[in-house]
Amino acid sequence: MFNLKIKEMSTIVFALPGNETLADNIRKQLGVEKGDAVVRHFPDDETFVRVDSDVKEKDVLLVCTLDHPDEKLLPLYFLSQTLKELGVRKITLIAPYLAYMRQDKRFNSGEAITSELFAKLVSGFVDRIVTIDPHLHRRSSLEEIYTVSATVLHAAPLISEWIRNNIPHALLVGPDIESEQWVSAVAKDARAPFVVLKKIRHGDKDVEVSIPQIVEFKHYTPVLVDDIISTARTMIETVGHLKMAGMRPPVCVGVHGIFAGDAFMELLRAGADRVVTTNSIIHASNRIEIAQVILKVLPNSTIT
Ligand code: R5P
Repeated sequence: MFNLKIKEMSTIVFALPGNETLADNIRKQLGVEKGDAVVRHFPDDETFVRVDSDVKEKDVLLVCTLDHPDEKLLPLYFLSQTLKELGVRKITLIAPYLAYMRQDKRFNSGEAITSELFAKLVSGFVDRIVTIDPHLHRRSSLEEIYTVSATVLHAAPLISEWIRNNIPHALLVGPDIESEQWVSAVAKDARAPFVVLKKIRHGDKDVEVSIPQIVEFKHYTPVLVDDIISTARTMIETVGHLKMAGMRPPVCVGVHGIFAGDAFMELLRAGADRVVTTNSIIHASNRIEIAQVILKVLPNSTIT
């Protein structure tokens, strides 16, 4: 006679500091346990980590968006490794924004290809990654550099919906050829026309964008869409050209609003009518909620 014992797999959600809102949202929607952990700095800035929940043989959802990755990586590594030592079954990293995707080749001799190095590090301490619109330009999939399973989600349907509900007569504008993939997808769902411009980046803060041929769209509201707004130079340059072409003040939409330094205010001062982002990175410009997209690919989810 066999004594077959079927163990129920349970899921527990941990948030790195600053990710509590998304983690709570996910946890409540899935109806799973909240993970308790302390992650803080000692006075000398070294990191202290303590896991207070019983995690043995549980599946962990670890929420940590990866803007400002240098300061987040060690706490994330320490927490993840500690969870493994305490016997968790599997760790899924939910990183709505995935850093270090742009340095994807040696542009000049001697440069580090940090997208590969970062991928190697992260692949060493989690079992799966869930992320939104990573900057895949020269790579066709995350699995080319990440050795763990990677689920790539897209914000385009959410952005299209926001545009449909908020911007009548929108003309979608992509600032460069790399943005075409997002802009064309958003335009299709938003049932709006789109144009894609040409960009040359001369330096971190020195960006040149071609003058758009958009006279026929004078009565539309331009909506610039890009995956990342970092220094905002790309958007600022585009806003300037649209202004010169006599277009209405544009709405600027970014999937990931990093806003280095004073970039957000500079973009508004440059003439953007509004700046809107998803909450993949917490910022005052967040208007588009991404939790629902993430929930669809998590275990226990009833959202389809
Ligand atoms: C570049 O390839 C990306 O798609 C964005 O256009 C870029 O990261 C934006 O950067 P910034 O805001 O610094 O111009």
